[in-house]
Amino acid sequence: MAGETGIAEPVQDVDFGSPAFLEDPWSPLRALQDQDPVFWSEKQQAWIVTRYEDVMATFRDQRLSASRIVPFLSTLVADVRAEYPLVAHFEEKWISNVDQPVHSRLRRLMANAFSRKVVDALRPASRKISEDILREVNGREVDYVHAVARELPARVITAMFGIPDHLRDQFADWAGAIQQATGAAVLTREMVDLYHQTLADMNVELLKLIAERRESPKEDLLSQFVQARDANDQLSDDELLGACHATIIAGFETTMHMLTLGMLELHERPALQARLFSGPADAAKVVDELLRYIGMAKGMLRIAREDFEWHGHTIRKGDFVYGMNISANRDPRMWQRPDEIDPDRDNNRSMAFGPGMHFCLGHLLAKMELAEFFTELFGSYDVAILSAERPWINSFTFRGLDELPVRISRK
Ligand code: HEM
Repeated sequence: MAGETGIAEPVQDVDFGSPAFLEDPWSPLRALQDQDPVFWSEKQQAWIVTRYEDVMATFRDQRLSASRIVPFLSTLVADVRAEYPLVAHFEEKWISNVDQPVHSRLRRLMANAFSRKVVDALRPASRKISEDILREVNGREVDYVHAVARELPARVITAMFGIPDHLRDQFADWAGAIQQATGAAVLTREMVDLYHQTLADMNVELLKLIAERRESPKEDLLSQFVQARDANDQLSDDELLGACHATIIAGFETTMHMLTLGMLELHERPALQARLFSGPADAAKVVDELLRYIGMAKGMLRIAREDFEWHGHTIRKGDFVYGMNISANRDPRMWQRPDEIDPDRDNNRSMAFGPGMHFCLGHLLAKMELAEFFTELFGSYDVAILSAERPWINSFTFRGLDELPVRISRK
């Protein structure tokens, strides 16, 4: 980032899809923190917000809307509502994409499902799933991303949700297809077509499962959502489907990428691994700090609902504004030694799960899964990374790898 003089080169533009940015988003974003903290990118046709305090404001300011999928897809498709009616219809039903006052109502109905009590009760099952997956891949050369990192959240969420085992891979594929289209750094028609078809296919299976739970409720999340729908009409039929979509889509790939990138960082650092075994409180600190440092949730899009001034710029109604969690999480104005992993940081106010009303509903679940898995992996297995290649996924929202060949062997 710094030239021979030690002064950062001015950033001309930001290209979310360029190989350089996918590999190292920090250098240009940190230069922008000094140069122009609310920067207009011609390439992205959007404002890029990079400083901690400003990213915080992006996600808290009610002048910025989270209803972003139709505007985002409109960068490629002239009339999203006409061509992809299901996409447009359900975007307005997902908690992650609605504004107030609808958001508070959905959040109240969904929050209990992810409480600390629920997550604590799931801990032994999650540990057992980690043990099972590692036993299954023991000694073999496998793609870590699919054989391990995707399997763990897929098994935890489908069990929690009440999706039968034979549909697990199918739901994981569907979650991946939707994440790909809604977060693509380089968007294509094929991605949008697949997203639309996925919604149609997923609804068929979900409606069957919903009918079964109505008939005979179980102790699972789906039964809880059905109950919220049926008791006092708190959710509409489509909001019930939307609550299912939102949980499934948000829960699979996020944890998968964090399990991949977290493993790579821990692999390099035996002293950090050792902290995992000093007890749950230390393991939780390691996970929190990895979440901050890695910046898996790279940036989130918002849409301006009105004109306003910001850092000397006029933001116009309809403008795209990207709050970059990843640069906020290493902003030197906020963090001492931002590029070091230090699990003993006081008051780790990382934005890994986003600030504001859309703060991740699954944060306790994700942190529990990560801590249990890493403790089991580095406690009982040796990991050999079999390639130096790092094929970064095509996403402006998340950092992650398409594949990572490894051999995991019992110690
Ligand atoms: C929202 C990150 C895992 C469910 C979010 C947001 C972030 C995030 C940054 C805010 C999005 C925005 O402001 O636009 C992560 C990370 C995860 C993770 C880093 C794993 C390491 C999970 C899991 C679940 C989940 C396991 C559930 C099973 C949700 C939901 C929302 C959300 C439902 C929307 C909340 C709302 O709009 O009120 N997540 N997430 N996430 N996440 Fe997560």
